[in-house]
Amino acid sequence: MKHTVLIFDSGVGGLSILQEVRQLLPNLKLSYLMDNAAFPYGIQPDDILLRRIVNVCRSAVEVLQPDLLIIACNTASTIALPALREQLAIPVVGVVPAIKLAANSAHGGHIGLLATPATINRTYTDDLITQFASGCTVHRFGSSELVLLAEEFMLGHDVDRAVIDHIGKWIDSTPTMTHIVLGCTHFPLLTPLLQTQWPKIQWTDSGTAIARRVKQLLPVTADDTQSGDLQLSWTAANQMPSAAENFLSQMGSIAHAAPLLVKEFSYT
Ligand code: DGL
Repeated sequence: MKHTVLIFDSGVGGLSILQEVRQLLPNLKLSYLMDNAAFPYGIQPDDILLRRIVNVCRSAVEVLQPDLLIIACNTASTIALPALREQLAIPVVGVVPAIKLAANSAHGGHIGLLATPATINRTYTDDLITQFASGCTVHRFGSSELVLLAEEFMLGHDVDRAVIDHIGKWIDSTPTMTHIVLGCTHFPLLTPLLQTQWPKIQWTDSGTAIARRVKQLLPVTADDTQSGDLQLSWTAANQMPSAAENFLSQMGSIAHAAPLLVKEFSYT
């Protein structure tokens, strides 16, 4: 039987992770869940966010019964991984900024971290930098505007000028950075544009590493050669997420698409 992986984000960002998982493990059933009722996460207080993420993920796991959950959101992972691992009986894979990867390849010098304001200010992020990038100078830029631009881009709107102006100011006013970590899963959706505009910078994200981690945890049997189904769920009952639907339908047929009812769980 095919394994089902639930991939969760506030919006379309987690599709950058889904794409990597699909490429490496095409036979898995992939179920994409977006909390569009509470989007964006990156500007919300930690306590409210933690509660929300736990309620949404627990509700979804109850209904969809996945074998593994990917928190395809840095903002959610840097706050909710311990709680989710404690409360769920399946493996939970988190996405955190690829600071280690960038620092290992930068060998000192200046690296950038582009993430949501919440992720930028987290102790989790401070610890990653202290542990893995102590030899580098890390320049942080927190932006929720870029998250919104990535959502617009996925709806087919032309956001090139706005993205370039928004990040360009930061890049120009910072010592030359060899690497910039895309510490929000929305941002790799813009990588082709970023690479074209700033070809000397290495734009680094966690997508490939996450797909490899899933492969370790859910080995696929050799006789399973058929592509796995795709599914879509969302939390704003009356707002069908058309960008996610379009993106998924380019990869295969969507076997199931429905809003998710979020329950309130009590826990301490
Ligand atoms: N995609 C999410 C992340 O990786 C956050 C976007 C949001 O602010 O909702 O951080």
